[in-house]
Amino acid sequence: MKAADLAHSDKPLNICVGFSQIGAESAWRSAETTSINEEAALRKVTLISNDAQQKQENQIKAIRSFIAQKVDAIILAPVVEAGWDNVLKEAKKANIPVILVDRGVKVSDDSLYTTLIASDFVEEGRMAAEKLVAAVDKNIPKSVSRTRNIAQIEGTTGAAPANDRASGFKEVIEKNPNFKIVKSQCGEFTRAKGKEVMEAFLKSGEKFDAVYAHNDDMALGAIQAIKEAGLKPGKDIVVVSIDGVKGAFQALIDGSLAACVECNPLLGPLAFDAIAAAKDGKKLAKQVIVDDKAFDAESAKKELKNRKY
Ligand code: AHR
Repeated sequence: MKAADLAHSDKPLNICVGFSQIGAESAWRSAETTSINEEAALRKVTLISNDAQQKQENQIKAIRSFIAQKVDAIILAPVVEAGWDNVLKEAKKANIPVILVDRGVKVSDDSLYTTLIASDFVEEGRMAAEKLVAAVDKNIPKSVSRTRNIAQIEGTTGAAPANDRASGFKEVIEKNPNFKIVKSQCGEFTRAKGKEVMEAFLKSGEKFDAVYAHNDDMALGAIQAIKEAGLKPGKDIVVVSIDGVKGAFQALIDGSLAACVECNPLLGPLAFDAIAAAKDGKKLAKQVIVDDKAFDAESAKKELKNRKY
């Protein structure tokens, strides 16, 4: 089901909802939190929020406390894919619909959640690979026969966007035999860790033609590391990432980021539309897919003034 097919209404819901958020690791994550808070206020929802500080055990504790407080629904942004069966069974037993936002889960029975509202992360990875190959091809003429080396900075280990963005990317890179992922390491979706990982890559002595970061914050950290190593991002090393936050748009415009695939974090309206539908007994598709598109310097310039995050 496409996001546009979910019926939207601003009608007050007058209910109580528990929201288990992963943390505040990235600009994207903060934008998602703001979107859910703002929409809750608009729809007259009492929102009980919990910041899990990147820990699944904190999310499980929060969900159990929402169940004890008899909330009407739960919004869960799950930090990793595995390990949710037991707590989601408890929510189901208490008859509380669980709406997953942005990241999916791997469970034995998909009736344990109502719907997942998220982007297609595999497709984002594919798009990022296509943009990266095109940008490197502009820098290095086809007549140069050596392998194009890629460094990958992964998101949180075990998280749906890290798994899926890696697999979509790999699928396209494998069709381009002169490109190779020569290093890949977790940067936890944060700018600081992205910088640290890139510094280590550069110190390893390996030469890189491109960096693929699973989100903008890590790409911005990597760009800083590249500059501090005396190299020019965009020219010496092409950088491509996913999210589409304002900082990345600025990097696209100044040329340090070659391309960026959008992942829309403004999921508040869709999350409460899904809760409204579930409360009305309507059957929802197991995934509501949010549309994404890729940006370059030119499209970023046009879009920057409208960017909300
Ligand atoms: O789950 C979405 C990802 O999580 C975003 O790409 C990233 O920035 C965030 O932290």
